[in-house]
Amino acid sequence: MGMRRISILLLLAYAIPTWAAQPVRARHGMVVTRETHATQAGLKILESGGNAIDAAVAVGFALAVTHSSAGNLGGGGFMLVRLADGRTTFIDFRERAPESASHDMYLDAGGKLTRDSLTGYRASGIPGTVAGLEFAAKHFGTRPWAELVQPAIELAAKGFPLSYAQANGLRGGALSAFPETKRVFQRDGKFYEPGDVFMQPDLAKTLSRIAQSGSQDFYHGETARMLADDMKAHDGTITLADMEGYKVIERKPLTGKYRGYDIVTAPPPSSGGVGILQMLGVLEGTGYEKGGAGSAQVVHYMTEAMRRFFADRNQWMGDPDFVKVPVKGMLDPEYIKKLRASIDPERATPSSEVKAGVFTGRESFETTHFTVADEAGNIASMTYTLNGGYGSHVTAAGLGFLLNNEMDDFTAKPGEPNGYGLVQGEANSIAPHKTPLSAMTPTIVLKDGKPFLALGSPGGPTIINSVLEVIVNVIDFNMNVQDAVNWPRFHHQNLPDDLRVEAGYSPDTVAILEKNGYTVRRVGSQGEVAAIRFNNGWLEGAPDPRTEGTAAGR
Ligand code: DON
Repeated sequence: MGMRRISILLLLAYAIPTWAAQPVRARHGMVVTRETHATQAGLKILESGGNAIDAAVAVGFALAVTHSSAGNLGGGGFMLVRLADGRTTFIDFRERAPESASHDMYLDAGGKLTRDSLTGYRASGIPGTVAGLEFAAKHFGTRPWAELVQPAIELAAKGFPLSYAQANGLRGGALSAFPETKRVFQRDGKFYEPGDVFMQPDLAKTLSRIAQSGSQDFYHGETARMLADDMKAHDGTITLADMEGYKVIERKPLTGKYRGYDIVTAPPPSSGGVGILQMLGVLEGTGYEKGGAGSAQVVHYMTEAMRRFFADRNQWMGDPDFVKVPVKGMLDPEYIKKLRASIDPERATPSSEVKAGVFTGRESFETTHFTVADEAGNIASMTYTLNGGYGSHVTAAGLGFLLNNEMDDFTAKPGEPNGYGLVQGEANSIAPHKTPLSAMTPTIVLKDGKPFLALGSPGGPTIINSVLEVIVNVIDFNMNVQDAVNWPRFHHQNLPDDLRVEAGYSPDTVAILEKNGYTVRRVGSQGEVAAIRFNNGWLEGAPDPRTEGTAAGR
């Protein structure tokens, strides 16, 4: 009888699929982005013989046309590269603070925080995207530069039909505040409707100059001069000298291990990689996974790891070229052991016992991640952003692209929350040429030296937790990659001391968590992961159904 029950249970376990969402599968190449034209632009480059890095560059330019809220020329980001020969590198093309930036530049005469780090001509760091894409193409690509910019030029010049979400995004007051932005992103003072063809002639011209002379134009030529002139006319912060001085920084990826997998991820000035490695380290010794995916036990242990990491992050992390970031200390096995031991198996630890702060959400969030892989084993995992949706809302006159508000990622005033509610410290304070601390976490997981999973997400501080959750969904809960991406997410950032959960968590689970001391808040959706799983010769592309993500392969 006992035996029979066991075998029936086993049978059931095998017969019932865990969850049935399917990734897009292909053998030779895969592109996963949040927008279909950009995905197709990348695929086209792969089909004409380009490698994953070539395709990623084409996607980066295409998204600057088709995903205006986050895709960009006027922002910055990180590209994590893994080459077929096993080398990995991290291209940091994030914005840097302009020469005129200063510690208290966003405080008024009375010492109160202004909104200047969020909107307008003083909110931008020096944009890095064009330099970053050029660096990637030059060092790791194989195709002529102009070919990689061409799909974007065509999308800008000929236009493309706006999707529901794209047209919706262009509505609302924010983009109307600046006349040049209104001119570019509305048609004769009227909002675009879904299905309308959106043409961007100024952007097409800018892109054509970039196709011809790349960063020479953007940082030293006509584009740089037009941008600097417009900044000057509006009391902005970025000068021609700032543009001319912009430099990409190639960094060593941060690496670590989890249950025999190698994790290759983002080093400072991203806080994300340290977070992923610290949190995986804390989880590994707990047996947390025995609760099963989605259980209160799993949410509890993961939340406690998140809470502890964010306390460290906000206190200690900043641009490693300016401050000493205690990466070693934060990842020291002894320290991780201590963190793990401080978790009560049942109860939430109040954040007041970890560290203090406040949260107020102030802006809509937009960033974008895409992942590209080819059959040779090259991978580009890239996150780039204007920071808030549509960045500073400023479009430089005649250039057709939005500028970032990345300066808000700095600590504008210690003790006061930024746009993401992060209460940060002096390590991330403002100084000329400094890079603001980021949460962007492009990551690649290897098994026995071979690609296993590549992913990343937008979402400000939630990025780090979304990436963590998808990694453990695949490794610890055996989900296929699409299930892992679809699975309901949650977020805790130490302060505010609330646990934000997506709708997929059942009332029963939430009740257990509340009983154990959590303040649970329901949120609409968290992040937008773009992942590729490498599975027995198949490339499995998993876009995020939360938005308009798409995957296409060959
Ligand atoms: O670098 C950062 O951490 C932020 N600027 C990212 C912003 C973001 O992800 C907005 N997303 N949805």
